[in-house]
Amino acid sequence: MAWIVSASGTETFRQNKVCNSCKRCFLRKRFNLFIQKYEKCTMNLTDASLSNFTERTRKGLIQHKKEAFWFYRFLSIVYDTIVNPLHWTVEMRDTSLKQAELVSRDLKVLDVGGGTGFTTEGIIEYVDAHNVTLLDQSPHQMAKAKNKPSLSTVNFVEGDAENLPFPSNSFDRYVSAGSIEYWPEPQRGISEAYRVLKCGGLATIIGPVRATHWFSRFWCDLWMLFPAEEEYRYWFQNAGFQDIRVSYIGPAAYKGIREHGLIMGLTISGKKPINGPSEPMCRLGPMKESLSSPFTWQQKLIFPFRWLLGCVAGFYYFILPFFVMFYAAVFIRDRSTKDSKP
Ligand SMILES: C[S@@+](CC[C@H](N)C(=O)[O-])C[C@H]1O[C@@H](n2cnc3c(N)ncnc32)[C@H](O)[C@@H]1O
Repeated sequence: MAWIVSASGTETFRQNKVCNSCKRCFLRKRFNLFIQKYEKCTMNLTDASLSNFTERTRKGLIQHKKEAFWFYRFLSIVYDTIVNPLHWTVEMRDTSLKQAELVSRDLKVLDVGGGTGFTTEGIIEYVDAHNVTLLDQSPHQMAKAKNKPSLSTVNFVEGDAENLPFPSNSFDRYVSAGSIEYWPEPQRGISEAYRVLKCGGLATIIGPVRATHWFSRFWCDLWMLFPAEEEYRYWFQNAGFQDIRVSYIGPAAYKGIREHGLIMGLTISGKKPINGPSEPMCRLGPMKESLSSPFTWQQKLIFPFRWLLGCVAGFYYFILPFFVMFYAAVFIRDRSTKDSKP
């Protein structure tokens, strides 16, 4: 059995050595064929033309504004207790924020999809809280952040990452952690990051990465957006960012276990050029979704099924870390705890 890492670096395929005679190998071959077909139909990155990345046609079930709103209506109740300690730890946050170059307490920072303020708490270690703006589309998530005494002087804005309610050239830093996976049009969100940054400003986005195991990929893609590194890079370049840097992060408790194919996170940062255009380079048509637009009757009918199935798919992502951490704690003794590019 061998692991092959493709040229893109994020694709891992398992190749079994099989004989031509026995029934077991015959079945294994059939299974491999099925997996290869699945890989091809989910997306063949080497063949995909780059322009496909601008507008991803296949979206996850919760990768919609209204679905995400209702998802967080309930998840906000337990978010700080069960989500961050497992998936987005203090160490991961601090590592990612180093890439955001928060070098002065006077920087004006926008935290998009700031939710309950976990990343904002990391930001205010480097920047004065009154210079920080937390934007989120979920009032329920933001209510939790508003209750945190350390964030009392932060500016709170209810709004959409894809249509930021700020003039162009307003901020020195743009940070968004764990929110891009809910955006129906990631290219639009990243273009908005470019627009609201001052020239010379830096955008840092932290998000999940395309799973390398087909089973994990099935659940993740069903749930929401898990882009490949190439897609992140493309969206940044297309918006006009330069000096693009990418690094990978993951909970130390996983001890670098990769067999499940889930890569917990990628941090990407890019600079708005000092002498570059003030507006994003890519021209996008009208926004596809808005939280305030009313439901059509078809949407009303589909919504509960889509939402429930989306939650079930998300549950896989939520419970898998328990198994990985248990396995790591019991069976893995001396593997590096540092997460790196797979
Ligand atoms: C996983 S939470 C991350 C919260 C926070 N950044 C953290 O580090 O804990 C994702 C957040 O993104 C918000 N979100 C999703 N889609 C959004 C959109 N289109 N505009 C603004 N916020 C959005 C959700 O409401 C949620 O609070």
